[in-house]
Amino acid sequence: MAEERPEPPTGHVQEAPDPAVRLLHMRDQFIHARLLQIAAELGLGDLLADGPRSAHDLAAATGTHPEALYRMLRVLAACGVFTETAPGSFALTAAGAPLRSDHHCSVRATLAFDGVIGRALFDSAHSVRTGEATFPRVFGASLFDYLADHPEHAALFNTAMQELSRPVLRAVLDAYDFSAARRIVDVGGGNGTLLSTVLRTAPDAHGVVFDVPHVAEAARDRLRAEGLADRCTAVGGDFFHKAPEDGDLYILKWILHDWPDDRAAGILRCCAQAMAPGGRVLLVEQVIPPGDTPHPGKAMDFSMLALLDGCERTEEEFAALLGRADLRIERIIPTASPFSLIEARAA
Ligand SMILES: C[S@@+](CC[C@H](N)C(=O)[O-])C[C@H]1O[C@@H](n2cnc3c(N)ncnc32)[C@H](O)[C@@H]1O
Repeated sequence: MAEERPEPPTGHVQEAPDPAVRLLHMRDQFIHARLLQIAAELGLGDLLADGPRSAHDLAAATGTHPEALYRMLRVLAACGVFTETAPGSFALTAAGAPLRSDHHCSVRATLAFDGVIGRALFDSAHSVRTGEATFPRVFGASLFDYLADHPEHAALFNTAMQELSRPVLRAVLDAYDFSAARRIVDVGGGNGTLLSTVLRTAPDAHGVVFDVPHVAEAARDRLRAEGLADRCTAVGGDFFHKAPEDGDLYILKWILHDWPDDRAAGILRCCAQAMAPGGRVLLVEQVIPPGDTPHPGKAMDFSMLALLDGCERTEEEFAALLGRADLRIERIIPTASPFSLIEARAA
């Protein structure tokens, strides 16, 4: 008679028939996410760039507790981020390599910034109860006001935006022809990552990166370093008040999702008023699909609520919002990323 053996663990707990096991697995993902943030904050990816090191050695380099750090590394090794090459010694795996700040797909700043703002998500029951952002309650100011007062976190945020943009830029360039544009305004353009890439595909166009003054300053440095200072300026200002004039293309990437409808409509009105006749607005946003369809925008939507009182929107919600600025959707272009391009013109 064949011996009965217990099933070996498969690692595919999310497919377990027991719904309680699946829920408990989701609970563990919270620990994994938090430890990834701590690994990024401590710079473990960079410390392991040249090969395996012992937990004791890493603890000395990071000012942490050796045994506790070992236990943290063991959790992340069980997820495939590190591997224990010899008892107590760890190396980065290919899956963990983007923890390095010099990796071409680095997400170190993104994970570290998630750690900075994490308390706003941890306390987000406040948002569920009230429908308001949690961030100001925890940090005493709105996210963007907080960043204006904390330059080191603002720099981390800008790098995080750059990291998150990286896989999206190619998809945007492949989906949209920018070559006919004459004057492109990137509204809330951050440190100029998107516009400097776009301008390389539109050699006849000039550009304006428009953002709050301290971010525009960072964009100015970047444009200079990229040799684009003669074709692109960085202007500091407030997009609720006035947008740079006479553009024929206003790009708003990851801007409207930061704001509730009344405020988002105000930004669009400023763009509509400033644009040259025949001008277009190009939104780079996630379009939330109906029903239970899985989409990363659904988790992002809740983050936007907790952090900023913002939201991701459906196609109908975008149409209604644009209508409040007398704009109408011309076309929605899907890209090879979760983000779509929503092109709009004067109604
Ligand atoms: C989510 S980030 C997106 C940045 C960039 N578009 C990107 O995709 O990487 C939002 C941007 O809006 C800018 N912003 C926030 N409030 C602003 C305001 N009142 N006027 C101009 N820019 C503002 C922020 O500084 C930040 O760069």
